[in-house]
Amino acid sequence: MTTIYVLIHMHTPQIIRTNNFGTDAAAFITRALQETGKSCPVVCLPSGMTPLPVYKAMREADCKIDLHYVALDEYIGLEATDERLFSNWLAREILDPLNIPKTQRTIFHSMHDDTEAECTRMKAFLKENPLDIAVIGIGVNGHIGFNEPPSNPTDSIRIVSLCPITRQNNAAYWDGGRVPKQAFTLGLKEILSAKTIILMATGASKADIIRKTFDNPVSETCPASFLQEHPNVILIGDTGALSQLS
Ligand code: GLP
Repeated sequence: MTTIYVLIHMHTPQIIRTNNFGTDAAAFITRALQETGKSCPVVCLPSGMTPLPVYKAMREADCKIDLHYVALDEYIGLEATDERLFSNWLAREILDPLNIPKTQRTIFHSMHDDTEAECTRMKAFLKENPLDIAVIGIGVNGHIGFNEPPSNPTDSIRIVSLCPITRQNNAAYWDGGRVPKQAFTLGLKEILSAKTIILMATGASKADIIRKTFDNPVSETCPASFLQEHPNVILIGDTGALSQLS
């Protein structure tokens, strides 16, 4: 049994102890989607290992939710059918099972021959349709999306070079290899513009960066630390990830 803590708004923490990270986080996200009051809220969702039990619980609960998915980040240079694409990962895990239509998925096109034009298109979409909820994970170096250090809130949607530690950690998803060197990412600018941000973190390997994110001064060297300046951040984590928080 894993104890999870839901800290609602990091400035006035309200701690709720529950028993199952996947089902409780899934229920929390489902409620947050409903509380937007919108029939089709605009939402980004993370890839990575952390959300897998959450997506599983959402599939098993056969959640009756509708949303417009916007890609948080994406590798550059992969074919549209490549299993490594985060858009395909999210499709397998959550979007197809929840029957989110393709017309409600705004993604980066990994093989586009004009990557700058892709960024421009995504910026225009989010300017018209700002995120209602940003659901995100966190890298051990403090990246959110692929906002590698140093990043700051003026950084918008762009192409980034992935840090060695990020490529090393991402390699674990693909049998130890095959991680592209470049990626698209929403910027801190777009993520911090979301009305609500839900950060999920599990495991002791995230304890140090969760402490730096919320207990250290805000710094470009830990891009996630800018979450401290957002009025509505919810951290959902387990005892391992939250063990070093003051
Ligand atoms: C990846 C993704 C992030 C993800 C993070 C944590 O590189 N770009 O969107 O949230 O790193 O991944 P994990 O949950 O596997 O630790």
